[in-house]
Amino acid sequence: MDIMIQWAYLELFIFITVGLYTWLWIRSRRPISYPPGPTPLPLIGNFYNISDGDFLKPVRDIRKKHGDIFSMSLGTYWVIVVNGADNIRELLNSRGEQMLDRPPIYILKLNDSYGIPSASGRLWKEHRTFALNKLKSFGFDKQLTTVVGDLFPTGTETTSTTIMWAILYLIRNKHIQDKMHQEIVDVVGHSRLPNMADKPHLPYCEAVIIESLRLGNIVPFAIPYYVTEDFEYKGYMFPKGAIIFLSIDSALSSEETFPNSDEFNPDRFIDADGNLHSQEKILAFSAGRRVCLGESLARMELFLYLTSMVQRYEFLSPEGQDPPSTKGHLGITRTPLPYDCRAVLRS
Ligand code: HEM
Repeated sequence: MDIMIQWAYLELFIFITVGLYTWLWIRSRRPISYPPGPTPLPLIGNFYNISDGDFLKPVRDIRKKHGDIFSMSLGTYWVIVVNGADNIRELLNSRGEQMLDRPPIYILKLNDSYGIPSASGRLWKEHRTFALNKLKSFGFDKQLTTVVGDLFPTGTETTSTTIMWAILYLIRNKHIQDKMHQEIVDVVGHSRLPNMADKPHLPYCEAVIIESLRLGNIVPFAIPYYVTEDFEYKGYMFPKGAIIFLSIDSALSSEETFPNSDEFNPDRFIDADGNLHSQEKILAFSAGRRVCLGESLARMELFLYLTSMVQRYEFLSPEGQDPPSTKGHLGITRTPLPYDCRAVLRS
């Protein structure tokens, strides 16, 4: 009798386990309307494909195998990843209306102070228009608190992270730092700090900033978009409810546009006459109707901070230490790993 009961329990256990596994397996399958992509596993989806490092290499590897547009499962969400600057621009241009919203996902709603980046619909439109007008006019009234609440976290984290990347690359490439310093000394001198009127006369400094934005690659997959109406693009379905990751990374690391793309080389943005060129190829601020709202402010801040810092200080690794690593860590933005640096006042 005991054996009979044990058998019954075992059968029940096997039944539940097989049933659960089948249910999870069915649930994890790619919905038929999504573009093809790597095979997901039950429960974890494609996390096993991208669990390595800062996500960039794994996603680049999936692209090599599955092409510019593929889908993958991140736990309970299905996302469509779009690669290539042309695809990103064309999609935002021609299908912008059907993907204007942000997905109603937990991570984006976690911190309400992130305001505009995670907002959708009327709320987004009102806040964005208001913030843009305020940024343009730099007007100060009591409502300005709303804009500061919306923009402060996004604005400070992004600019400071880019400065950390720029200093890292300047430490690693001392000849570039010295060339930048020389340009500042020639144009501005030592007696005053650089200002915005100097910008057109400091093309090499500008090229260093653009190259830092490119290799810093601080928002590699933009902010997720949400499909609010089915549409088709290049033969692929983008079904309502899909989440889209635009791979800004694929644009910034394109070997075609930026040969030897891993190399920090500001000269790629300087023509034979010493003028700045091709800086519009940088997609670091994304494009379309949800393009970064703080682009002009960020460019201004980066120029003023970095030129002032390089004018006054020489940035070096601490004595006897290797130069900082170019590896990144992907959190809210892609940051460099913590590094030590010596700032020596220039005489
Ligand atoms: C180096 C600095 C910065 C970089 C590289 C950067 C990059 C980006 C990127 C890639 C996006 C996503 C656009 C998309 O979803 O397609 C974005 C969105 C946004 N950025 Fe920036 N950003 C920077 C600085 C700033 C600053 C200084 C501010 C504020 C003053 C700001 C405010 C915003 C806002 C509000 C959005 C959301 C726009 C929307 O959803 O409508 N950003 N940024």
